[in-house]
Amino acid sequence: MHFKIGRNDPCWCGSGIKYKKCHEAFDAKIDQFRVKGIKVPDHKLIKTPQQIEKIRESCRVNVAVLDYVGEHIGPGVSTQEIDNWVYNETVKRGAIPAPLNYNGFPKSVCTSIDEVVCHGIPSEDVILKEGDIVNVDVSTILDGYFSDSSRMYMIGKVSSEKERLVRVTKECVELGVQAVKPWTRMGNMSEAVHKHALENGYSVVREIGGHGVGLEFHEDPWVGYVSAANTGMLMVPGMMFTIEPMVNMGKPDINTDEEDGWTVRTDDGLPSAQWEVTVLVTDTGCEVICW
Ligand code: MF3
Ligand code: CO
Repeated sequence: MHFKIGRNDPCWCGSGIKYKKCHEAFDAKIDQFRVKGIKVPDHKLIKTPQQIEKIRESCRVNVAVLDYVGEHIGPGVSTQEIDNWVYNETVKRGAIPAPLNYNGFPKSVCTSIDEVVCHGIPSEDVILKEGDIVNVDVSTILDGYFSDSSRMYMIGKVSSEKERLVRVTKECVELGVQAVKPWTRMGNMSEAVHKHALENGYSVVREIGGHGVGLEFHEDPWVGYVSAANTGMLMVPGMMFTIEPMVNMGKPDINTDEEDGWTVRTDDGLPSAQWEVTVLVTDTGCEVICW
């Protein structure tokens, strides 16, 4: 059942201000898109200033954990050691690693090397060696608020082909960030990401994408990176979502390990890279709040 909010009622955003003085005009603007058949976000996807502040605190932990990983990673380190660092550095800041026990995921972080696209499970038996490229994907819960970002690390001297893949994937994310503008559609961001990958001879994974984030680990909308401009959900100020394309050196096709149920690999065995940021849509563009 849907009750229309009264103009003199307190606004749904929790500001304590009357609706007519707060989000009424904002909702009317959203409705102009809705009536044209464009998918628009529910109120629950629009974060209040108080929620944004809490999510920012969670992001600060996430960034600190990734910084710690960057300072200690290198040849000879096992991915289990990375998991230990992430667990310790997270809990020491009063937070919880979001992946731990998430849908049965057994560890605190995802570590994905070379042809592993995402969701690699840390292990004592996997030792980083010179020439590897590895994605470390950290997600944090602080006081119930979620943050999510990932970085690529190059271990020792890496081939120029892999180095280029890592660099171009980062550029894809930066171009995606620049394409996030309020009152435009998500596909604009996706197309910017995809175009840069294709221009460089790479492909983008279609089946796995990003997501809204903040009050839950994975919120709506699902965020793909191969969609066309002017398609997908309308972006409005206060929304938060991840930009986290997986860019493959070869074909886009992937498979999930049948034994562990998590590890995703490229079908052709060629390397894949991923960077992940969380953005907050603002009145003028967006702000990267977790990187
Ligand atoms: N951190 C991943 C993301 O970017 C999700 C990992 S789910 C896990 O959305 F269970 F594998 F940790
Ligand atoms: Co994510």
